[in-house]
Amino acid sequence: MQKDPQLRKAIRDRHSFFGHNPIVVKLLEDIQRVAIKNTPILLEGETGTGKSLLARKIHDISQRKGPFVSINCATFSQHLLETELFGHAKGAFTGAKDARKGLVATAQDGTLFLDEIGELPLDSQPKLLHLLEEKTIRPVGSDKEFDTSVRIVAATNQRLKSLVKQGLFRADLYYRLSVVPFTSPPLRERPDDIEALTKTFVSQLCEEHELSKPNISTESINALKAHHWPGNIRELRNHIERSLLLCVPLDQKLPIYEKGSTAINKHCLKSLEKAHILMVIDESSGNKSQAANNLGISRRTLDRKLKRWEQEVA
Ligand SMILES: Nc1ncnc2c1ncn2[C@@H]1O[C@H](COP(=O)(O)OP(=O)(O)O)[C@@H](O)[C@H]1O
Ligand SMILES: [Mg+2]
Repeated sequence: MQKDPQLRKAIRDRHSFFGHNPIVVKLLEDIQRVAIKNTPILLEGETGTGKSLLARKIHDISQRKGPFVSINCATFSQHLLETELFGHAKGAFTGAKDARKGLVATAQDGTLFLDEIGELPLDSQPKLLHLLEEKTIRPVGSDKEFDTSVRIVAATNQRLKSLVKQGLFRADLYYRLSVVPFTSPPLRERPDDIEALTKTFVSQLCEEHELSKPNISTESINALKAHHWPGNIRELRNHIERSLLLCVPLDQKLPIYEKGSTAINKHCLKSLEKAHILMVIDESSGNKSQAANNLGISRRTLDRKLKRWEQEVA
């Protein structure tokens, strides 16, 4: 019998961001130091490296009284994003029968996690800057300002600095957000954590799916360590889940990439990313929304990448 979704989620959420690799240990030490302060925090890193998990950890360490509230900036149009964040006044637009508070107000005394901050529309950026600098918000359609006390944690898998150079992200907002920047390292730079992560995921997933726990061979661990994991820990976890459900050893069905040193050049990384994304789309039987979901990126980001590759071919 399947466990109920609540219980499955509880099992899944039970672990926190962990690792013994020196880069990760230093990252966790630094996070411990700043989590208790009120400064905004910027989390950079490839998709699947644990940024969302880190954001949650920062909130837990901070011991702020309010809730942890999360929003993905890529999933809303500008207008919707602003009403979601700042709320709206009664009659602000057609259909706004009552005033509604936004997520900034919901996160009062807590943490607001802005995921995929690189997708924040340019026109909304001054409003976020205003919140960071003045600690006040003005709901859409209202002429009143409200005081707020919320800790902002933002995450991005794009290089915000290069978005600034391209004119897609305001420099003033970038500097305000990146007072304390952290980078969550890609899995291929911390192969020494693969064994512990694998064992944790195997235990969790066997419990979640009510499977008996298989032995994990040294060969399997070595094969997992040699893989490049363009989708990082999310890909590792998904790979383990698939292997357990299909009852195949962990070193089977690994997409084959060139084995190489960790010093892969940029061009090579891009082609790995492309190969991986196309494989995931294929595995989702061409369903791009599902593929985007599995890849942990927004549908908009996926479409943009595909369009870019089409143009490169044309
Ligand atoms: N350091 C870590 N320790 C344990 N699990 C992790 C770690 N980093 C990521 N994960 C797991 O990998 C998956 C992707 O993590 P997530 O935080 O959503 O990544 P991101 O936000 O960077 O795309 C989740 O299932 C998460 O639980
Ligand atoms: Mg995330």
